[in-house]
Amino acid sequence: MTDLNQPVFFNNTALRDGHQSLAATRMTTEQMLPVAPLLDEAGFAGLETWGGATIDSSLRFLGENPFDRLRTLKKVAPKTPQLMLLRGQNIVQYTSFPDDVVEAFVRCTAEAGCDILRIFDALNDPANLETAIRTTLASGKHARGEICYTTSPVHTVENFVKFGCKLAEMGCNSLAIKDMSGILIPSVAYALVSQLRKETGLDVSVHCHDTAGLAVATYIAAIDAGAYAVETSVCPFANGTAQPDTFRMISALEGNKRVPTHFDKDLLQAIREKLEVVYEELKQFTSPNNERTDSDILLLQIPGGMLSNFRTQLRELNMADKEMEVRNEIPEVRKALGWIPLVTPTSQIVGTQAMLNVKFGRWKNFAPAARDIALGKYGKTPGAIDPEVRDLAVKLSKEEPVLGRPADLLSPRMDSLRAELAKNNLPVTDEACVLYAMFPQQTSDWFQGKRPAPTPVAKDKPKDGAKPSGPQSRKMKITIGDRSLDALVEEVA
Ligand code: CO
Repeated sequence: MTDLNQPVFFNNTALRDGHQSLAATRMTTEQMLPVAPLLDEAGFAGLETWGGATIDSSLRFLGENPFDRLRTLKKVAPKTPQLMLLRGQNIVQYTSFPDDVVEAFVRCTAEAGCDILRIFDALNDPANLETAIRTTLASGKHARGEICYTTSPVHTVENFVKFGCKLAEMGCNSLAIKDMSGILIPSVAYALVSQLRKETGLDVSVHCHDTAGLAVATYIAAIDAGAYAVETSVCPFANGTAQPDTFRMISALEGNKRVPTHFDKDLLQAIREKLEVVYEELKQFTSPNNERTDSDILLLQIPGGMLSNFRTQLRELNMADKEMEVRNEIPEVRKALGWIPLVTPTSQIVGTQAMLNVKFGRWKNFAPAARDIALGKYGKTPGAIDPEVRDLAVKLSKEEPVLGRPADLLSPRMDSLRAELAKNNLPVTDEACVLYAMFPQQTSDWFQGKRPAPTPVAKDKPKDGAKPSGPQSRKMKITIGDRSLDALVEEVA
């Protein structure tokens, strides 16, 4: 376990979360090539390069095979371990996949060169993590069990530590606290890191977003409590909704006995200069809304990305004047649905149900996706589902609640995927199968050479700083009364 006198490690997120959070996941492999060797030299303990929305974005927008990106980055940055973000049984999608698909995905990822898999589940349900953790370990890679941080009466330090102990029992090599909304405050970070270390004996890393400007203070508290590593990026793919800038973090730690001293200021500056060029090239996809520090998230306890889409949706439903009512309904819906965290896709489901409750009366119009949560189809919720709401879901859907692991209900799919690929004259490899399972159209197009137009290098930013659509703002069909609309699904990573 980490020695409290040893310098803290930094993992760098510029090539994954940095551009996912600040530039709609549009950085291409080509744009990464000049900077990756410099990042490899800088002395980071890890480089996050893959997973999250990057796989979807590579296929959908960039005309890239995501596995090729991983192999290429491994070649140009061979010294530093590479990290990816994996959504447990959901892989990098929004719904569960059968075990054989998850296993094949993890094996392909390991073979393509990923060293550390950050494995999480939106509900913190261990059952949704089992297969991914087991396969990562069997592939000889590092399984970092991620604890999704949120606030609610059931999300106490004690309960998070219990979940951490479960992850340790399942064989995770280390743990991390994943603060995707940027709401983790220093005192809680201190308590979490010290108790997780004490109870599990594992190294604990911390991954914060600087959305509300808290990340640096929270990291210092976590480092004082014995955090193994914290995650930073490099400007301009840092701060705001991304991770804090590396040099900023080093400066904030001056005088702290755990300050890392091996970083070369000139090298960090050279990295920044290369990234400035890319940021400029991607300016069509960047937005002042993501760059600024905004404490709305702390006040409202609603992820920033969720809020902007939420307002658009209210306007489209002529409910703009009901924003306060809907906002106040959100905790009611979360409570009834077992205090689920507000992360993709639960944020959208809870937001929509809150609108329905305000428009038609509480639970008078029960959206199918919210019913599925009440039925346990997304996994075990952190708190208990309101029994009346669950009974109503059973009655409306004519289905019984799922009591065990949701993935146990899914039949193996790899054989049928292989058959389908063969029938469509596509390569019958495990890589092709797992990509096809998640993104059939895009994968098929890619292998047939139908590539999307290259990322435009925009002259102007979108008007009024509007957020560009990225893979993190995918559309989800929502029907309210006699109206049907495409709601944007905001990804919180
Ligand atoms: Co993140």
